[in-house]
Amino acid sequence: MYTKIKTTHIDFFIKILGKENVLSGKSVINYSRDHTENLSYLPEVVLFPKSTDMVSKIVSFCNTNLIPITPSAALTGLSGGALPVFKGVSISMKKLNKILKIDLPNFQAVIQPGLINEEFQNELEKINMFYPPDPASKGSCTLGGNIALNAGGPKALKYGVTSNYILNLELVLPNGQIIWTGSNTLKNSTGYNLTQLLVGSEGTLGVITKAVVKFIPKPKENLLLLVPFHNIAQSCEVVSKIFINGISPSCIEFMERSAIELVRDMSFSNIPFSIMENDKAYLLIEIDGNNKDYLFESAEKLFSIFENYNCGEILLAETSTQKENLWKMRRNIGLAVKSYSVYKEEDTVVPRNNLPDLIKGVKLIGNKYEFKSICYGHAGDGNLHINILRENISDSKWDLISKKAIREIFKLCIKLGGTISGEHGIGFVQKDYMDIPFSNEELKIQKLIKSIFDPNNIMNPGKIFPD
Ligand code: LAC
Ligand code: ZN
Repeated sequence: MYTKIKTTHIDFFIKILGKENVLSGKSVINYSRDHTENLSYLPEVVLFPKSTDMVSKIVSFCNTNLIPITPSAALTGLSGGALPVFKGVSISMKKLNKILKIDLPNFQAVIQPGLINEEFQNELEKINMFYPPDPASKGSCTLGGNIALNAGGPKALKYGVTSNYILNLELVLPNGQIIWTGSNTLKNSTGYNLTQLLVGSEGTLGVITKAVVKFIPKPKENLLLLVPFHNIAQSCEVVSKIFINGISPSCIEFMERSAIELVRDMSFSNIPFSIMENDKAYLLIEIDGNNKDYLFESAEKLFSIFENYNCGEILLAETSTQKENLWKMRRNIGLAVKSYSVYKEEDTVVPRNNLPDLIKGVKLIGNKYEFKSICYGHAGDGNLHINILRENISDSKWDLISKKAIREIFKLCIKLGGTISGEHGIGFVQKDYMDIPFSNEELKIQKLIKSIFDPNNIMNPGKIFPD
C-alpha cells in the first residue's frame, strides 16, 4: 500500500537537504529502536531537516509518492510511537534544536522540536524561570517528543503536563502547507483548539516545527522526603489524605521496594539510604515554594499524617547532593527494569484515591497469570507505571499471558475511572487496546479527524488506532 523508497527518492531528499542530512544504508539501524521493550523496525531512510521549509518539501513529496513518515528525535519514547513500522522515512527533528526566542516579559519562548528538555530548563534557570514538565528522560528527550505524547513527569502533579504549557504550534501538514494552530496568548476562545488537539497526537497529523511555550518563575525552595511504608496499599492510600489536609506537594512519587532493589542490583545508581526489612514501598515527596518556614510547617503536617500509618523512619534530604541522589535513583528505575528482563510497561492512570485498588488489582492479576510486576510512578496524579516482567516465562506463554493480563489491567483502570495511558502515549504497543477506553463511535471521530489532516495516511501510520 505504500511506496518503497527508490534511488530517485533519495536523490530528491539529497537535493533538498544536502548529502549530510540524508542517511540510508546500514547506519539506519541506529534509528530503528526507541526505549520501548526490545522492539526494532528499520526505516529505509533517515532525514535531518534543518528548517520548516525543508520539512514542508520532504513531507509534500512523501505525500504525493505515498511514502510513510515517522517523526522522531531522541528516541526515548516508551510506546513505540517513533518506530517506523511501515518503513519509509524516519524524519528526525534532532537538528531543529534551538531556542529561537525567550520573551521574558511575556513569560514565553519559541522553541524548535528537537530541543532537549533539560537544555531548555537550564537556559530558563539562568533567568530564574522554570519549565515544569520533566519526564524521567529529561536529559535526553526532546520538547517535540514531549509535545507529541503530552509528557508529564513528577512535577506534573502541581504544575501540569506539557499541554498546559503549549500556547501555539507551527505545523507542516502532509500536503506541505505550513500553519499555526492558535495564538501566543494565555487566553484564547477563538475557534477550535487545534493546539491542544496537536499535543498528544503522536506525529499522526503533521510535523510540528516550532512551539510557543510558556514558563513560570522558579520556586526558590524545596524539601524532599523519603517515606518507607510497610504496606503497599497504605502507601497509596495516604496520597489523597495529604491533599485533604491542605498540602499540595510538587511531587509524590511511588516506588515499590523491588524497583529500588533493581536500581541497586543493576548498579544504576547508589541508594542513598538503607532498605529495611519491613519496607514494602516508598513515597518520595517534594514540597516547594518561596517561603522556607511554610515548607517546614507543611513537612511537620506530613509527619503527623504519616504517624497514622505503618511507616519506617522518614528521611528528610539535607543537602542538594542527597536530593539529587534520591531523584537519580527514582529516574533510573525505568532503565533498570529494561536492563533486567524483557518486560511490558503500562502507563496506567486513575483518579488518585483509586490508586490502592489499582495496585491491589494488578498484584491479583499477576498472581493469576504467574508473572512478577514492578510498579512505580507518579502517585500524586494516580499515574502508575506497571512493569510486567517476562523473566523465565516461555515465548508462547509470554505472548498469551501478557496480552490477557494487560487487557485485564486496562479494564480495571477504566472501572476505576481512569484510562490506559497517562503520559507515554498509545503509539504502537497500546493501540490494540483502544477498544477498552473508547467505543467504536468515539474511535470513529478520532479517525475522521486524522483523515482530515492526513487523507493519504502517510503520517506515522500504524499508531494510536487498532488495525
Ligand atoms: C518514569 C517514566 C518511565 O516515570 O515515565 O520514570
Ligand atoms: Zn513517568
